[in-house]
Amino acid sequence: MLIAGEKRTTIWPDADGNGVFIIDQTRLPHRIETVLLRNLDDAARAIKDMLVRGAPLIGVTAAYGVALAMRADASDDGLARAREVLRKTRPTAVNLAWALEQIGQFLAQMPEELRRDSAMTFAKHLAEKDIACNSAIGDNGLAILRTLAEKREGKPLRILTHCNAGWLATVDWGTATAPIYKAQAAGIPLHVFVDETRPRNQGAFLTAFELGQQGVSHELIVDNAGGHLMQHGEVDVCIVGADRIAANGDACNKIGTYLKALAAKDNGVPFYVAAPVSTFDFALASGSLIPIEERAQDEVTHMSGEADSGELVTVRIAPKTTPAKNPGFDVTPARLVTGIITEKGVFAADAQALAALS
Ligand code: MRU
Repeated sequence: MLIAGEKRTTIWPDADGNGVFIIDQTRLPHRIETVLLRNLDDAARAIKDMLVRGAPLIGVTAAYGVALAMRADASDDGLARAREVLRKTRPTAVNLAWALEQIGQFLAQMPEELRRDSAMTFAKHLAEKDIACNSAIGDNGLAILRTLAEKREGKPLRILTHCNAGWLATVDWGTATAPIYKAQAAGIPLHVFVDETRPRNQGAFLTAFELGQQGVSHELIVDNAGGHLMQHGEVDVCIVGADRIAANGDACNKIGTYLKALAAKDNGVPFYVAAPVSTFDFALASGSLIPIEERAQDEVTHMSGEADSGELVTVRIAPKTTPAKNPGFDVTPARLVTGIITEKGVFAADAQALAALS
């Protein structure tokens, strides 16, 4: 996708394969900065501190992290250590474990002396696969948006999304945004309502930024506005991403997604989850088993942004003595999900339909 008119991906290896570049997402939208990851610890820190975030991108960064680790120590112990360090960075997005399993299995069956170069090639392959999956999600979602747009008789199709399941959460295209970008390219008029997504404001900072860069019509709304807009017939469809989907179709995504799904159900607004097959965890029978990341209190008690002076500032918004609770994700029960858009097609959110993917 584009930043300042230039085609970019979120992650790419440097020319000699000794490092991997990322866009530092903690600085967006105020600063566009790249960071070079040189080793395992850099990659682990980038995931943990959310310089990269979003389930698919976390997975691809972890694979590159293993590849960087193999340049220092390609032994079985080195491989096991790299997997363990990366696995511990964030708990909810299953794409992390998926990517570590993929690259781990691939490297385990080859001699140590081949691992250094093969690991980097494999990580690049996972990154390319992510782009292809998201593009296919876009094509499958486009069919849904096209049908819904016909009912609008030329007026813009109004889409609500939560958090950032955009290209910045993947290598390219995004999951929830891929159908939007495909619809834009197909000439379908659309307008996106972007939930700000407190506490880290991925909607305001990232989704609004990337839609703006792509020239997609959008408006930022506070997290509490979605229900009101749906009640007043101002939203035609919701599309969100997912961090982990259980075998029964329960979908875990950024905190607040569940409330949007409830409002959508109550108002007859279709609610779609867009995710690659790597986001499914068929080992979990239901969403109640998904580990929910509990994050730092200061994400709730403070807010960051750019002052009119151009300085990046963080301010406290709660009394100094007020404690905060900060679950990072919630689970939307399958009964509230209209369909799950994957690279393999659109599936009903139930165990029987999803079994075909396992
Ligand atoms: O905490 P984050 O920013 O990593 O959370 C991201 C989300 O919840 C996304 O919606 C999800 O990972 C889907 S990304 C295509």
